[in-house]
Amino acid sequence: MKKLLLSAILVFGLVTNANAESGKTHIEDFDFSFEGPFGKFDQYQLQRGLQVYTEVCSACHGLRQVAFRTLGDEGGPHLDPETVKAYAAENFEVYDAEKDEDRAAIPSDKFPESGLENAPDLSLMAKARAGFHGPNGLGINQIIKGMGGPEYIASVLTGYTGKEKEQAGTTFYENTAFPGGWIAMSPPLSDELVEFADGHSNDVHHIAEDVSAFLMWTAEPKMMARQRVGLISVGMLILLGVLLYFTNKKLWRDIKRKT
Ligand code: HEC
Repeated sequence: MKKLLLSAILVFGLVTNANAESGKTHIEDFDFSFEGPFGKFDQYQLQRGLQVYTEVCSACHGLRQVAFRTLGDEGGPHLDPETVKAYAAENFEVYDAEKDEDRAAIPSDKFPESGLENAPDLSLMAKARAGFHGPNGLGINQIIKGMGGPEYIASVLTGYTGKEKEQAGTTFYENTAFPGGWIAMSPPLSDELVEFADGHSNDVHHIAEDVSAFLMWTAEPKMMARQRVGLISVGMLILLGVLLYFTNKKLWRDIKRKT
C-alpha cells in the first residue's frame, strides 16, 4: 500500500511538472508547407517572407550568412537573375574595402549584418531555436511535431500581450512565446503593415507565418535537395532489398529442394 502511494505521488509529480513546463511559454503549431518527408518550400510564400524581412525586420536584424544570389536558387524564392540584381541594388548598401566606400549591393554580396547592436542575426535563427520540448526532457514532442524553429519565430511575432515594462532604461514587452516572458523587441508587426503583390492575406498571423518560412529557408536553403536525395536513396535501398531477396531465393533453390 505504501509503495502504491509513493508511486502515485511520483506520477502526480511528473505530470504536474510536465504541465508547469509546457505552461511557461506558448508555441503555436503552425502548418508549414515544408514539414514532413514530402514537404516543399512554397516559392511564393518565401517571396512574401523576403518582402516582410526587407520592409520590416532588416531595419534591425542582419542576414549576414545569406548571399543575394541564392535568392535565385531553385527550391528558394527562385527570383530571376535580373530581379535579384535589382533587389540587391535597390535595398542594400555594402562596404567596399577596395574603394573604401559604401556602394549598392550586387548579387555576389551577402546581406548586411544587424543594424541594431542587440538584435541577433537571423540567418540561422530558425535552426538555433526549438519551439517544442519535452515531455520531461524526452524530446518526444520534437519527433512528432518537428523541432519547431519557424513555429517559435512565428509565435514570438504573434505572442505579444500588449503589456510593457521599463527596466534599467530598456523597455520590455510581454510575450507568451519568448522564454522569460519579456522581450526587448517592440512588436514589429501589425495588420496590413505589408502589402503583398499577390493579394495574399496580410494580417499579423499570416505575415508572421510567411517571414518565418523565409527564415527557415535562409537557415536551411538546401532542404529540398537533401530530402530528394534521401527519398531516392530509400527507394534504391528498397529496390536493392527486393533484388537481394530474389537472388537469395534463386541461389538456394537447388539446395533447399533436396532436403
Ligand atoms: C526595432 C528593431 C527590431 C525590428 C524591426 C525587429 N526586431 Fe527582432 N529583435 C530585436 C531585438 C532588440 C531583439 C532582442 C530581444 C531580446 O533579446 O530581448 C530581437 C529578437 C528577435 C528574435 C530572437 C528571439 C530569441 O529567441 O532570441 C527573433 C526571432 C526576431 N527578433 C525576429 C524578428 C523578425 C522576424 C522581425 C521582422 C518581422 C523582427 N524581429 C523585427 C529588434 C527588432
